[in-house]
Amino acid sequence: MYRTNNCGELRLNDINKEVTLSGWIQKVRKLGGMTFVDLRDRYGITQLVFNEETNAELSEEAQKLGREFVIKIKGTVAERSNKNPELPTGDIEIAVRNLEILSKSEVPPFTIENETDGGEEIRLKYRYLDLRRPVVQKGLILRHKTAQEIRNFLSNKGFLEIETPFLIKSTPEGARDFVVPSRMSEGKFYALPQSPQVFKQLLMIGGYDKYFQITKCFRDEDFRADRQPEFTQIDCEMSFVEREDILSVFEEMTKHLFKTVKNIDFKEAFPRIKYDDAIENYGSDKPDIRFEMKIHNISEIVKNKGFKIFNDAEYIGAICAEGLANYSRKQLDKLVDFVKRPQIGAKGLVYVKYNEDGTFKSSVDKFYSQDDLKTWADKLSAKPGDLLLVMSGNKKETLTQLGELRLEMGERSGLRDKNKFAPLWIIDFPLFEKDEETGQLHAMHHPFTSPKTEDTELLETNPDAIKADAYDLVINGNEIGGGSVRIHTVEMQEKMFKHLGFTKEEAEEQFGFLMNAFKYGAPPHGGIAFGFDRWVALFNGSDSIRDVMAFPKNNAGRDLMIDAPSEIDKLQLDDLHLKIVKK
Ligand code: AMO
Repeated sequence: MYRTNNCGELRLNDINKEVTLSGWIQKVRKLGGMTFVDLRDRYGITQLVFNEETNAELSEEAQKLGREFVIKIKGTVAERSNKNPELPTGDIEIAVRNLEILSKSEVPPFTIENETDGGEEIRLKYRYLDLRRPVVQKGLILRHKTAQEIRNFLSNKGFLEIETPFLIKSTPEGARDFVVPSRMSEGKFYALPQSPQVFKQLLMIGGYDKYFQITKCFRDEDFRADRQPEFTQIDCEMSFVEREDILSVFEEMTKHLFKTVKNIDFKEAFPRIKYDDAIENYGSDKPDIRFEMKIHNISEIVKNKGFKIFNDAEYIGAICAEGLANYSRKQLDKLVDFVKRPQIGAKGLVYVKYNEDGTFKSSVDKFYSQDDLKTWADKLSAKPGDLLLVMSGNKKETLTQLGELRLEMGERSGLRDKNKFAPLWIIDFPLFEKDEETGQLHAMHHPFTSPKTEDTELLETNPDAIKADAYDLVINGNEIGGGSVRIHTVEMQEKMFKHLGFTKEEAEEQFGFLMNAFKYGAPPHGGIAFGFDRWVALFNGSDSIRDVMAFPKNNAGRDLMIDAPSEIDKLQLDDLHLKIVKK
């Protein structure tokens, strides 16, 4: 038998118990005639003690143990004379009688502790060692717990967990597909699903009116802290529902997860913000509403005062950073550099300090009087001591840039507390996005999203203005989930494909199976998918979803541990009828 107990559970009331423990060696230290060993597993750390006086041979053996050796010991639980209040097991130690080395270890390339000396690359290369660190384990345990609660909640509501295939045909979620060559069908490829979208709709047609799945999705897109090429969705779909039915179930699920996983109660209904209002007020369709600092349109009041940049701008907007009028010249210059970074791409930033004595100091004093600046301050309900930050240009871009600046100022003012959560729904997204260059319409969500019933007539006359019956769940500035009511008739789906620039043949070739299914009694349906990794990262207070994935890829999409992607040999290529053409 390897263990009677784990390394995190023995306490004072276990004194004198004979126990067997197995685990990894965290640390060995010798103090006089005593050798202390910290034994670790995922449950905790227990101190082992070897006494030279009672067993010199065993004590000598213990001193030879190295970090990360796997051992099994037998011994007696004893009260510690020197207690460690930092450890749950800190009141006891095990007086060891018997030691067995189960497996030796080379010196690990970084310290296996929460505060480690290993950089990310090395930790990903030796991920199995990184996984031993308690912080990483905490994230994965939280992930497990969250998944269990999702399954509990949805099963209790009558949802069925049904798997859908990975070797499929392209699904349009807006990214590139990962493809898999077929050996049996020469020159043909499967695509890995960007999401189970079409399958869940086919399940609705198949009569499974409440479906969910916690499943992998694959998207060949650029990486970010919140994006991985393979990630996990909580994918859901329901039949005979309207938007309200869907939002109601999944708001309840969100509250259930907050309660059961984080012990946080949300009594009130989540705010709902229309897409247009979110852009106008927060410069983002995933606003962080833990703090206010809304964007104000001041175009009307700043024009015609001789300042050309503002006079020529389509839009001028401002935010008010409370209490920051004491920003130094240097701090303001840094802020200008911040908005000019390529990621934000602004041309400049105008500031107005509302001094404590009621006067104003701005970077545009040449053009605006104290009275003018007071009007701006009033428009933003600013008080003495506040700092106004103003940006101008093309409306869409300027709002986005102000949105980024708002987040930065919120961060600097400590308004983005990781322990505070502010969920909301964004509703009424536009159905289409227009490609600025070609004028071609693209589906903002995906091509199966239904227009809002009251807007369907606009399909023929003014498609740009149509709102979709689509919604996103946003928490603390993260898009946690998104979904929609779907189109369920052949006629509407055909119209949609036409607007998206598909010829009849292309639509038939790519989505004929779905159109065909619509001919055999498709129930009205809709659903949503949540980014499971993002959700767990948020709960865990992690900045990157990598922290809550067991085996994530690095920034370049590589798995450094198994060294993938990698070349395949000639025989395999021949089997697949493939030839690599090197550039
Ligand atoms: P969408 O494309 O919005 O919708 O994806 C749903 C959610 O999945 C998460 N997500 C990601 N997480 C990590 N890495 C990625 N690369 C990544 N891409 C997306 C986000 C996002 O909100 N089929 C539709 C859903 C539906 O209509 O029901 C879909 O996939 O949190």
